[in-house]
Amino acid sequence: MVSIVIMAGGKGERFWPRSRQSLPKQLISLTNDGKTMIQLTYERVKKITDKENVFIVTNENYSNIIRKQLFEIPFQNILIEPLGKNTAPCIGLSAVYIAKKDPEAVMIILPSDHLIKNNDIFINTLEAAAKMAQEGDNLITIGIIPSYPETGYGYINYSNKVCDIDGNSIYKVKRFVEKPDIDKAKQYLKEGTYLWNSGMFVWKASTILKNIQRYMPNLYEGLMKISDAIGTDNEIKVLREEFNKFESISIDYGIMEHAENIYTIPGNFGWDDVGSWTALERIQNTDEDGNVKSGNVISIDTKKCIIQGNDKLIAAVGIEDIILVDTDDATLICSKDKCQDIKKLLNKIKAMN
Ligand code: GDD
Ligand code: MG
Repeated sequence: MVSIVIMAGGKGERFWPRSRQSLPKQLISLTNDGKTMIQLTYERVKKITDKENVFIVTNENYSNIIRKQLFEIPFQNILIEPLGKNTAPCIGLSAVYIAKKDPEAVMIILPSDHLIKNNDIFINTLEAAAKMAQEGDNLITIGIIPSYPETGYGYINYSNKVCDIDGNSIYKVKRFVEKPDIDKAKQYLKEGTYLWNSGMFVWKASTILKNIQRYMPNLYEGLMKISDAIGTDNEIKVLREEFNKFESISIDYGIMEHAENIYTIPGNFGWDDVGSWTALERIQNTDEDGNVKSGNVISIDTKKCIIQGNDKLIAAVGIEDIILVDTDDATLICSKDKCQDIKKLLNKIKAMN
């Protein structure tokens, strides 16, 4: 059996003011087709398995809107964390629910806020990864050929090729390094034996639970208590108690940096993690001056700007390389080369409130 797990509890604040803590990036639309990021994620992979085997992991704040956006998914497959403790507890929780049905089920774990250009290649890669996962206690990562020394990604140091599955080369992984500093990232690019971690993972439920038992014993202990409580009157109470105790840590730091038996498949399907407002230049149509505009926007002598509004008229003259995002209660004006600082700006706004 193959299950899909879509992780959808992240705060995704870099698209402020369109994304908010109450409506993060995965629940908004950033493409021309009007579909939200999580809707696109589900549509992309729904043909891999029955909807009964698709799980969404999120928290109470987002569960209702996710149920509306993905109304096809069975109610009980929306797994709700009492509070977000990053991706290790999120993946552990989904493994426990899936293992109840079938411990040998393969889990394809996906972020909810990325874009993929070529879906056929994507599905072919995921299905090859699922076959490799089925064969043993293997942890499969999907790697991306790096193009610049990004410090916001994990890096996969791969060695020899172990096999080919359906046209996909599978490599053994020597080492996994989550979010290195800039000097290390530059060195990895130079060495040429590193891939970016796309944040997608494929393994059997039993395999990841064994790894959690070995490398994160406290998490494992809590997950087993949750497992015992599933289907009883105590389920929600135990979930809450155990999640309160969990350390907030990602699967990358908690497991991938320590585990053995990691493999990688270089993905060649056009991956974009849509990390900031400037990503819209890659994914939306631009006008003849290179502007990405949506809403009621008129401009003269305006070049390479990202201008996003609604019904209110936005009129721009003679600006270049500016991000302008207008919503009902907040407006962002930001130089394009400073768009990574929106997080800092948000901290300042939070401190004021
Ligand atoms: N349910 C749940 N609960 N989901 C979560 C939580 C949580 O507490 N925290 C994050 N997520 C979801 C996010 O919504 C997103 O879809 C996914 O898990 C990954 O989380 P991010 O917070 O976006 O991770 P990241 O971008 O910093 O790093 C990961 O992705 C990179 C590629 O985009 C890592 O896996 C990196 O190694 C990788 O390079
Ligand atoms: Mg991310």
